[in-house]
Amino acid sequence: MATPVLTASDVSKRFGPVQALRGVDFHVGPGEVHALLGINGAGKSTFIKILSGIIQKDGGTLTVAGREVHFRTPEDAIRAGIATVQQHPELVADMSGLDNIFLGRETAGRGLFARIDRAGLEARAEALLARFAVPLDLRQEVGQMSAVEREAVAILQALAVDGIRVLILDEPTSTLTEVEREDLFALMNQLKTRGISIIYITHQLEEVFAIADSFSVFRAGTCVARMSVAEARESRVSLAELMLGEAVGDVFPPKAGAPAGEALLELEGLGRPHEFTDITLQARRGEILGIFGLVGSGCDELSKTIFGALPAARGTIRVHGREVALRSPRAALDAGIFLVPGDRRSEGLALSRPALFNVPLANLRRASGGFWALRRGRLRRDAQELTRQVALHPPSLTTPASGFSGGNQQKIVLAKGLYSQADIYIFVEPTVGVDIGARAKIYAQMRALARTAAVVVISSDCDEVHGVADRTVALHKGRLVAPAARGFSRDDLLMAGIMGEVAA
Ligand SMILES: Nc1ncnc2c1ncn2[C@@H]1O[C@H](COP(=O)(O)OP(=O)(O)OP(=O)(O)O)[C@@H](O)[C@H]1O
Ligand SMILES: [Mg+2]
Repeated sequence: MATPVLTASDVSKRFGPVQALRGVDFHVGPGEVHALLGINGAGKSTFIKILSGIIQKDGGTLTVAGREVHFRTPEDAIRAGIATVQQHPELVADMSGLDNIFLGRETAGRGLFARIDRAGLEARAEALLARFAVPLDLRQEVGQMSAVEREAVAILQALAVDGIRVLILDEPTSTLTEVEREDLFALMNQLKTRGISIIYITHQLEEVFAIADSFSVFRAGTCVARMSVAEARESRVSLAELMLGEAVGDVFPPKAGAPAGEALLELEGLGRPHEFTDITLQARRGEILGIFGLVGSGCDELSKTIFGALPAARGTIRVHGREVALRSPRAALDAGIFLVPGDRRSEGLALSRPALFNVPLANLRRASGGFWALRRGRLRRDAQELTRQVALHPPSLTTPASGFSGGNQQKIVLAKGLYSQADIYIFVEPTVGVDIGARAKIYAQMRALARTAAVVVISSDCDEVHGVADRTVALHKGRLVAPAARGFSRDDLLMAGIMGEVAA
């Protein structure tokens, strides 16, 4: 075997009472695409932050190309040839894409970085971009960009230096559509042929078989398995089982047994110029309605319009059969509509506040009735119950939301939605970044909600929409693609969302 480019042995890290990593052994070879797997909170991002110099390990050793290294800053890691795109890349919203790329590289202007000239970097960024196949104007402000475009900027930022040996991507595909994911994989394969190793974190297990050569599984802060993908295929091991440490049942709950009840939410001819047109649909009590749409299909805007965050230019919205004018999210909440937004970190969470503070935000009325002491006790009990339902880990209500792993932050927003006791629930991309075990729990929750409410699941994950919903439609370039009488099969739904056509 070739000398590994990067090794870690016996690495540990503690955050206060939480032992995030213990005795981690890990290696990646030259030109190897290595997937790093584990449930939410297993320690993946913590390990990556150590490899990229953002935080320091408490113990253990790291080597790069056989030599021991000590990373005290991100620049140390970059200088050693390790480039990282973090789980939630921090870009400066009011600067252009190009400026963000430079910002990451100019830093103190010492040593290596003093020699990087702007023209050279710009040329390199443009050259990389040409291969990336995501149409992107680097002169645009990052704040104006979509999630996909921001991810692309972050990847370009990571790659825009010389001598990169290892590229680390912490859940890059969670914001990408199927098409863009293919582009990313193509780019990864190119880098691989140039001898660059890639460490790749994902919760989409089928991606492991599509792109990786090998994988490691983290569980509770230790590496419990390392295997080649060929080996895994041959022995038919279940990746989900390795991650969870136990057998997994069906991810999706059974479909609704009874026929759906009355229409709780009716959209008629709803439209906003250049975003979506002539949307007519109903969500009924007792059912989960699935809307499959890629990024840019208008799904995001549609969900925000139903939630009163964007005004409709045309058409009507009826709730319980009565026409409503939803001029604000407050008005939508009062009408009994709750939205779990897609871009949760910017729209759904007060990051510096404890989980306990975040959960009742959406339902202050429920949280504020009765005497203060009673209220506090009830709130705590409700919140505890909810954290159990979404499998929040650690199940702590006093930890600031920012102290949770990425997937667990998502669960806090979901808990907030469940606490809202609405009649109509709209979940946008509900399980992005959520591990497979917790996903099953969340789908089961949706099914439970749908017993008394109407649930709408809007997602760019076709399998999720098809798996969880009783009835599905697709949104393509702002138009609804409705199924033929027999309903959509999984493949028809995919076609409808990607091509805008119903199969003959
Ligand atoms: N800044 C922090 N302060 C306190 N605890 C933290 C901090 N960062 C992470 N942790 C804890 O360390 C553990 C590992 O978290 P980490 O973010 O590495 O998980 P992960 O495997 O990346 O999960 P996910 O799939 O949800 O992104 C978790 O229990 C988390 O709550
Ligand atoms: Mg993470």
